[in-house]
Amino acid sequence: MKIRSSEITMSAVHRHQYPTDGIPEIALAGRSNVGKSSLTNALLNRRNFARTSSTPGKTRTINFYLINKEFFFVDLPGYGYAKVAKSEKDKWGQVMERYLQDRDELCAIFLLVDIRHEPTADDKMMYDWIKYYGYDCVVVATKADKISRGQYLKHLSVIRKKLQLEKDEKIIPVSSSKKTGIEELWSEIVEQYRK
Ligand code: GTP
Ligand code: MG
Repeated sequence: MKIRSSEITMSAVHRHQYPTDGIPEIALAGRSNVGKSSLTNALLNRRNFARTSSTPGKTRTINFYLINKEFFFVDLPGYGYAKVAKSEKDKWGQVMERYLQDRDELCAIFLLVDIRHEPTADDKMMYDWIKYYGYDCVVVATKADKISRGQYLKHLSVIRKKLQLEKDEKIIPVSSSKKTGIEELWSEIVEQYRK
């Protein structure tokens, strides 16, 4: 995928702050620290476009990135960060629910999970939510550089089993730091927003 332009268009919490031009959207969801912002940067070939951090919970708003004036990447706030107060968690739920309800522009959600670990209860909840709201889900297994290629299949099958993926649902292993799996992920993204 050739990136001709990428721009941060909107940071939103409320519906009236969302883009209104009807451009298709692809959202990235996942646990805090799973690597959503890093993956956004790797996909766009930018170093510090989406802010990354080793402190979980960096991204708290819904960020819309306009790509090639063709579609939006939507970086959703992360979940499952233990040290967050209940009031913060409630706020997260409201922000997510508001976005997921009837978002006609949203073509698919890419759910990021860490390739090393069995998905958490929160990951499973997020997957179920995506399906409940009727969106297509593509799972992305992040930080693939942390295990050897020989271990991929074993880890991917643990992920598939825990999330109870349907047969035709894909898991794409990627590494943002080593830039592996990025082309394959791009093909999937393009397929999803042109559908
Ligand atoms: P929140 O905004 O808090 O929800 O986190 P996030 O999902 O955006 O995670 P972020 O991209 O900020 O990355 C979290 C940490 O994981 C950072 O320390 C990254 O350097 C590291 N990380 C992200 N992707 C990779 C990867 O592919 N490989 C390795 N080894 N580390 C990664
Ligand atoms: Mg982030």
